[in-house]
Amino acid sequence: MQIGTVTLAGGAALAPMAGVADRAFRELCRSFGAVYTVGEMVSARGLVQGSPKSEELLVMGPGERPGAVQLFGDDPEVLARAVPVAMKYQPQVIDLNMGCPAPKIAGNRAGAALMKDPELASRIIRAVKEASPVPVTVKFRKGWDENSVNAVDFARMAQESGADAIALHGRTRAQMYAPPADWEIIRQVKEAVSIPVIGNGDVDSPRSAKEMLEATGCDLVMVGRGALGRPWLFGQIAAYLRDGTVLPDPPMEERMEVMLRQVSLMAAYKGEKIAFREARKHCGWYITGIRGAAALRRQAGTVSSLEDVKALAREAVRLSRALLENTENSSGAGRGA
Ligand SMILES: Cc1cc2nc3c(=O)[nH]c(=O)nc-3n(C[C@H](O)[C@H](O)[C@H](O)COP(=O)(O)O)c2cc1C
Repeated sequence: MQIGTVTLAGGAALAPMAGVADRAFRELCRSFGAVYTVGEMVSARGLVQGSPKSEELLVMGPGERPGAVQLFGDDPEVLARAVPVAMKYQPQVIDLNMGCPAPKIAGNRAGAALMKDPELASRIIRAVKEASPVPVTVKFRKGWDENSVNAVDFARMAQESGADAIALHGRTRAQMYAPPADWEIIRQVKEAVSIPVIGNGDVDSPRSAKEMLEATGCDLVMVGRGALGRPWLFGQIAAYLRDGTVLPDPPMEERMEVMLRQVSLMAAYKGEKIAFREARKHCGWYITGIRGAAALRRQAGTVSSLEDVKALAREAVRLSRALLENTENSSGAGRGA
């Protein structure tokens, strides 16, 4: 698919996730086959005011190209002025956040609140489009709430204002992240516009990726929470979409190696202090699904060094081996009886 002049391969994209989909996770997802990544949302005002914290979020690794940075804000002029700052980091696409439900963002007219003010949203898209040397995309939701579903009109407005593609999360702001996502609205939006549509919401497996593509006709699926602790999901989705190949989940040893790789990258990119604090939730996601792992989860919640993460990995491998042996013994006994 094409976003303006940018060509993307077939497969799935990683959704932007503030505080989670950082450079380390994005690079890992790309190495497993994610075809496109969008950075964590960055305050346009922060960039214009020279905030180093905001700028740090714009750093992209060489492995995550073509990729996008995402800006949020409520002032067309400020957003336009943020574009040259963002361009220092050479993104291939600038994405505009018009879907964030967090009160801190949507309570200040930005994020999903822009869905209640399409005229302001249009001025923002036009201003950024004019300032940007690269394609501009917009990510938004189904609407503010069930009484004000306006994704189709909003999509048309985005297209008329110059957006090169849109990403639609099939939930209202009021719904936050509660299931289910509405894929029918994605189908309606796809039918209403000629620019590419990226579908998002509740894709967490190769099968659901294919189902979304078929049910909505969208050009690309975007995966958020389903990829947490499972970056290999992107390779599984790409293989399934290509020719129906079902790739198994990697064995526990390999999963733990991936976890260690992610945490090591995090430490290299943001320093150990921040990295290990943030790594706790990621470690928790990597060990999800190991039965009877309450103690393991507690252990994941306290890691504060690479040694701790290695110990967690060893324990996860030991526990899953023990479970496997138990299962094999009991099924062996069953066959003998
Ligand atoms: C922790 C978290 C952080 C998120 N941060 C962003 C963000 O910075 N920008 C954005 O457009 N969406 C953000 N989202 C929304 C996701 O991009 C995505 O639209 C949503 O999770 C639905 O997709 P999923 O069902 O595949 O998770 C975030 C979601 C989560 C769970």
